[in-house]
Amino acid sequence: MSKGHPYWDARYAEKGFAYGELPNDFLMSAFSDKPPSQERGRAISLCEGEGRNAVFLAQQGYQVTAVDFSAVGLQKAQSLAQRHGVQIECKLADLADLDLGTDQWDLVIAIFCQPESTVRRRLYGQLGRALRPNGHFILETKVKVDASAADPYPGISILQAELAPLTLVFAQESERFLSEGTYHQGLHRTAQIQAVKG
Ligand SMILES: C[S@@+](CC[C@H](N)C(=O)[O-])C[C@H]1O[C@@H](n2cnc3c(N)ncnc32)[C@H](O)[C@@H]1O
Repeated sequence: MSKGHPYWDARYAEKGFAYGELPNDFLMSAFSDKPPSQERGRAISLCEGEGRNAVFLAQQGYQVTAVDFSAVGLQKAQSLAQRHGVQIECKLADLADLDLGTDQWDLVIAIFCQPESTVRRRLYGQLGRALRPNGHFILETKVKVDASAADPYPGISILQAELAPLTLVFAQESERFLSEGTYHQGLHRTAQIQAVKG
């Protein structure tokens, strides 16, 4: 894939950061009791956007790959990483074609990553083999009440079923206040999941 995505490129061409420069707070909370480390292994951020979460993971000590199909988003992600003095690898790709590989990742994150349901199920179905033993998966996504599994915004029970090969560490669906950049402001219903392979 050499081009970007018209809708998302236009959004990220706007001034500022669509979802802010600070990492998602649910992702941050997973590290609240862990000091940054020299070496945490490999992490991949699905639907990374403008870099806020990839930069945070690099600061925690991960070797990070950031995937998105917005070229503009990934350019901003690379600039943000440079500004913070960390390295991230940016991969311009459509999740519909992404192969996460086998025993590749110590951490996979999907923060407000809401592709079509067929893409989501194919991708999350790869996690059991793609994560290394004791590898973690962290997700926060918007939820539409009464969404079916065919919806891009399903609730926690559907997500839990799709992640069945992993062991759930934390799973919660709630209305919560978001304050992230221009586009995530106010009350939203979200699902939050932490799961581990092992
Ligand atoms: C709501 S934004 C969230 C961005 C980022 N995760 C964050 O929280 O700041 C959704 C992102 O998903 C990306 N995206 C959606 N569908 C995708 C797909 N099929 N392949 C790759 N990226 C996709 C968009 O380009 C966009 O950057």
